[in-house]
Amino acid sequence: MTKLLDGLKSKKKIIMLTAYDFQMARILQSLSVDLLLVGDSLGVVFQGHTSTKHVTMDDICYHTTAVSRGAGIVPVIADMPIGSFGDPKTAVSNAKLCIDAGASGVKFEGYFPEIAAALTAENIPVMGHLGLLPQTAEKYHVVGKAAEEADAMISHALGLCDAGVFAIVFECIPENLAKTITAAIPVPSIGIGAGKYCDGQVLVINDLLGLDRGESHPPKFRKQYADIGNTIANAVNMFITEVDEERYPDDGHTYH
Ligand code: KIV
Repeated sequence: MTKLLDGLKSKKKIIMLTAYDFQMARILQSLSVDLLLVGDSLGVVFQGHTSTKHVTMDDICYHTTAVSRGAGIVPVIADMPIGSFGDPKTAVSNAKLCIDAGASGVKFEGYFPEIAAALTAENIPVMGHLGLLPQTAEKYHVVGKAAEEADAMISHALGLCDAGVFAIVFECIPENLAKTITAAIPVPSIGIGAGKYCDGQVLVINDLLGLDRGESHPPKFRKQYADIGNTIANAVNMFITEVDEERYPDDGHTYH
């Protein structure tokens, strides 16, 4: 089986970003992005829900199709939504729908080695996701501070690797735990709120660009690299003013 990210661990920092549409995928594929993730975060940033719990297989397949049209050669990973991987047979048939929609692999949340093994047995590249699991978490918090939790996460990471995952996302875990796990596992660790020692980093593209989620307390790890929300507001205000003052459409934008 082609292993996505083969040989990249410890060679370079792996960059994964979410994408939900064709135009964003086109921009990201032109940069040195290693993976595009059609994250179920789309339930929050695209659909406006307060959690990812409402996202369906149809949603993920719809967005995966759009993203893969713009992704070029960059592998697209489809996030399996809650309820889509309850047993190996269901997981395999839903993962195949993601592949048919254009994904190169899938990701699922939690410690389910039997699901990872069933998917890899079908040659479907699979990424794990440990730490904070937004599909089932009651609230947003750092996971793995207590020794017991940390030990469990190390053994879960190793278990998922034995089951064949090609990478694991670690969300909201202490930096030192991420460092220990990264050294212990044979596949790349990709962090979000997991500090600098992971083999790669992932962010939700809307957060990176500065599109406001309307949250009162955004998590500490989120870094905003642009202010696209205000750029959009300024552009639309200019349009409104020009229309109002009959400066748009001018002669250069009119057929005669
Ligand atoms: O849904 C998502 O965008 C994710 C990333 C935050 C890893 O799972």
